[in-house]
Amino acid sequence: MAIPSQIIQEITDKCDIVDLVSKYVRLKRSSGEYVGLCPFHGEKTPSFHVSADKQLYHCFGCGEGGTVINFVMKMENLSFLEAVKFLGERVGVAVPESTDYDDKIAKRKQRLYEINKEAGRFFYTSLGSDEGKVAREYFASRGLSKETVVKFGLGFAPYSWDKLLKHLKSKGFSEYEAIDAGLIVKGQKGSAYDRFRNRVMFPIFDIRGNLIAFGGRVLDDSKPKYLNTSDTPVFDKSSNLFALNLAKKSANKTFVVVEGYMDVITLHQYGIDTAVASLGTSLTDGHALLLKRYADEVVLCYDSDEAGIKAANRGMEILSRHDIKTKIITLPGSKDPDEFCRKNGVDAFKMAVSGAKNPVLYKIGNLKEKYDLSEPDQKVEFLKAAADELVKLNSIMEQEIYAKEISVLCDVSYESVMAQIKQKRKSYVRKEEKKELEATIRDLNQKTIVKDGKNKLLTETEEKLINLMFYSHQAYEYLSKKYKSEDFSEPLLGGLFEKICELKTDKSDIAESEFISNFPLEDSSRIAKILNIKNSYPDLVLAATQISQSLDKLKRDIRIKDLAKSHDMLKVKEMISARNRKED
Ligand code: GTP
Ligand code: MN
Repeated sequence: MAIPSQIIQEITDKCDIVDLVSKYVRLKRSSGEYVGLCPFHGEKTPSFHVSADKQLYHCFGCGEGGTVINFVMKMENLSFLEAVKFLGERVGVAVPESTDYDDKIAKRKQRLYEINKEAGRFFYTSLGSDEGKVAREYFASRGLSKETVVKFGLGFAPYSWDKLLKHLKSKGFSEYEAIDAGLIVKGQKGSAYDRFRNRVMFPIFDIRGNLIAFGGRVLDDSKPKYLNTSDTPVFDKSSNLFALNLAKKSANKTFVVVEGYMDVITLHQYGIDTAVASLGTSLTDGHALLLKRYADEVVLCYDSDEAGIKAANRGMEILSRHDIKTKIITLPGSKDPDEFCRKNGVDAFKMAVSGAKNPVLYKIGNLKEKYDLSEPDQKVEFLKAAADELVKLNSIMEQEIYAKEISVLCDVSYESVMAQIKQKRKSYVRKEEKKELEATIRDLNQKTIVKDGKNKLLTETEEKLINLMFYSHQAYEYLSKKYKSEDFSEPLLGGLFEKICELKTDKSDIAESEFISNFPLEDSSRIAKILNIKNSYPDLVLAATQISQSLDKLKRDIRIKDLAKSHDMLKVKEMISARNRKED
């Protein structure tokens, strides 16, 4: 049974799209609409439009669009039914439970949440039981308080091959469902057994508080140290962060990203409630998008080993790609934040956070380690490498401050360091401009994807205009003056335009079937489709002007793209800066 349409209507009526989208995207008001950077594809210039009047969104870059429901489906990775429920909860409209709804994925995901929750309960209870004593002792030995254990819902997977499986079955879950959740594994001989055995358990929640996966740690030095749930329909490790469900509630918008579960938990226990961890993987674009939603600034705090430094470098790159203000801290003398806090206290950690270095300084710090500054030739190499980093600072003041430090460090004159920076700055700026240009062109390429010789977005936009002209006299008046049939990207569309102009002159409505009969038979179905485009625009003229404006922009972008192919870069640069200026 599907959800009654009046309920969907009520929910969409009560949910303001601008409100909702603003929770995820920074929107700016622009001529009656709101625009921002599209959350569904990477872009540097905003092509994501939200209309408060129509309660619709549309991205002219990637073509995504729709209502509040489409938006949360895509944004939160929900099925239709889940999206309706999600929004229903927000606006206080109850969505009836139905046992035979046709949404199989939603049902499967729902079962996965439930089974994980049940497993979480089981691990938690085991921790409190007799056999959980070793695990309780383990957590205590790592300095975790009882409150912390409860807050994170930590648990223990007992030393048994089938205790969890039996428990889940007794609660009405099938073996298949337990395998689907990654809690149970099927052995080579076909027998099923518990995946997590004799491990302390860390439940992983998504931002909505659903239990989606587990990490399990051994109690000693055996291998593998951690075992994590592999990806399931509810768990994708590249788009979930451990403890983000807690961190997102903090008033503090400076997030601390660390490597391990234990680091996060210790930091939270010490009151640093914005600590999160990527789950045993390096930071991904998915993580960056999540962080961007909740954090104003991210402090990366990785382990002080080689792998940690690599991870920090990669993390900085990813976060900067998403325009997230990033700083890095290193914790000397300790292998990770957990150990550091225990050794030096949380105030020392807070000091480290407040003194976190920007990426340039961080890199210089690392460079210093690589060279022996008592050797003249290594000193020269270091100075060159350091200048390559300082050149990235856009403020001359900052350049000067650090140049001074380096000059003292290497015992050379401050002027010579600055001279070195100045000399390199020009080519650096040129390179950056080139990168920026290439990024914009990539952006344009994405907007103007051509498939089977057709640009889908272009075709769709033109078809919408034809439709509006056909049904609205005022839209016709506006568009027939603005365009000529040659302006359309296909002869058929140009032909439709011309015919409408011919028939509209006496101001009467045109009958669809009569109109279609003017064209070859093989085009009928396409024309019918164009005439049938549903539009829910309250004001057709306004729609016509807006859509024609986006058509103009799109055509301009296609021109720039074509020009970029001809390698007339000077002209391309000129057009792009004109384009970006206009959109700001
Ligand atoms: P402790 O030794 O308990 O302090 O662990 P930690 O949290 O400091 O972990 P560590 O720095 O060794 O690793 C960081 C993170 O990488 C862990 O929290 C896990 O998410 C992940 N990880 C570490 N070892 C393994 C492993 O053997 N297998 C998998 N899948 N993940 C691991
Ligand atoms: Mn550790």
